[in-house]
Amino acid sequence: MTALTLSTAAAPGLRADAIVIGVSKGDKGPVVAPGAEAVDQAYDGGLAGVLETLGASGAEGEITKLPAPSGFRTPLVVAVGLGALPEKDVNGGAYDAEALRKASGVAARALAGSKKAAFALPVADAAAVGAIGEGALLGAYSFDAYKEGNAAKDKKNGKAPLAEAVVLGAKPRDKAHKAAVERATAVSEELNRARDLVNTPPNDLNPEAFAAVAQAAAKENGIKVQVLDEKALAKGGYGGILGVGSGSASAPRLVKLSYTHSKAKKHLAFVGKGITYDSGGISLKPAGHNETMKCDMSGAAAVFAAVVTAARLGLEVNVTGWLALAENMPSGSATRPGDVLRMYSGKTVEVLNTDAEGRLVLADALWAASEEKPDAIVDVATLTGAMVLALGNRTFGVMANDEAFRSAVHEAAEEVGEPAWPMPLPEHLRKGMDSPTADIANMGERMGGGLVAALFLREFVGEGITWAHLDIAGPAFNEQGPFGYTPKGGTGSGVRTLVRLAELTASGDLG
Ligand code: BES
Ligand code: MN
Ligand code: ZN
Repeated sequence: MTALTLSTAAAPGLRADAIVIGVSKGDKGPVVAPGAEAVDQAYDGGLAGVLETLGASGAEGEITKLPAPSGFRTPLVVAVGLGALPEKDVNGGAYDAEALRKASGVAARALAGSKKAAFALPVADAAAVGAIGEGALLGAYSFDAYKEGNAAKDKKNGKAPLAEAVVLGAKPRDKAHKAAVERATAVSEELNRARDLVNTPPNDLNPEAFAAVAQAAAKENGIKVQVLDEKALAKGGYGGILGVGSGSASAPRLVKLSYTHSKAKKHLAFVGKGITYDSGGISLKPAGHNETMKCDMSGAAAVFAAVVTAARLGLEVNVTGWLALAENMPSGSATRPGDVLRMYSGKTVEVLNTDAEGRLVLADALWAASEEKPDAIVDVATLTGAMVLALGNRTFGVMANDEAFRSAVHEAAEEVGEPAWPMPLPEHLRKGMDSPTADIANMGERMGGGLVAALFLREFVGEGITWAHLDIAGPAFNEQGPFGYTPKGGTGSGVRTLVRLAELTASGDLG
């Protein structure tokens, strides 16, 4: 894991492998961003011209490398594009946190193989320090546990992640700056751990293994943990989780993580879909649709990471995390299309399609979460392909039984740099799930499938409890190339939104 530190050292004297500077896209060419003054001075104020000569424009995601000026103890300058110049009348002309986070992430990726890089980007306030730190730690991430050459140790191919990121211009003794670094470190480390879980192949991460990871982390961070195994699930009547897991050789689990603070006034429950592999079950997915289905536990990974982060930050709020873990496989013991499951809530569900399994495990976990009467429940799930069709693969859908809460969740997501969009719950779609045999079927109309799934979940939220649902099927797993601070593979989608919701609840700024 990359280390994050602050330094007041001036650029020329600092020993590092590279110094990262920012460059914005101005109307008349690249504009050097604040923070890079020392480098600019070494070029007699002509750095922007030098960058332009090298083809730099300041566009988002752009990297321009140049040798450091003489007298510098860093051999390399890495200029990273920040995109359009900040508008003077917006937020006092300050650089947008997300622009800084992305630029920092791009630079950290470009510096894979380096030991130490100094980030001389614009640091107007503590929020900027945090954003730069977070971008660097998230951007430097790589998953190479299964590379036989072990890239992390292979100096020759230069692929080891950046080892140390130093944020220049920040004040190491300033309370707010220190807190920003602590927050960025906790969030990024736990988010990267969620990415690791998503990227771990499903033959190594079954429900039992996931539960063991959660148990160990809970112990380390003073979180109470309870794991229901298949026997306890049967005794408790968790028909949804058991029904989904019944086809697998690896039994399901329900993990409950309880973080409490003595001064907490509110209680949040987070519920995560944790299908460690989704083959579709008897309603088997065709080839082309199952290669990335190890990512179907991304919701549970996000919930796990968020609860641990809340504990590490000591937030004054009680947070309970529910991980609904099962593997969806076809076999002689698998649930059949046509079977009826008796859920934990007591409702019966006719399973028409065993590939609509996420809502079944979530239904049990939502009902269990509801029994504690939390102030709000937020579930996170790679729930539907329909949501990917609707919003693409970078934006998650936000649905809720309360419009104000839906807006609050959407705002929290945008605030931390997670693209999200509110989606409706049209009542007329409910009747498509009417079953002649049971209380409800697990499938309805195909059109608006993401909304249908959410309407199903709503039936399993306790009376009067505020609830929101994040369908992260699009952004959870990045099959394209890396961008900004987002790597290929598991992204950690949802983690930062949940952490922000916990913070807002702790400070009394949310409901
Ligand atoms: N895990 C999938 C949804 C998914 C699709 C996640 C693409 C990530 C990327 C989910 O369990 C599923 O199979 N949903 C079905 C539901 C349908 C059978 C009602 C779907 O969306 O096709
Ligand atoms: Mn499925
Ligand atoms: Zn699934």
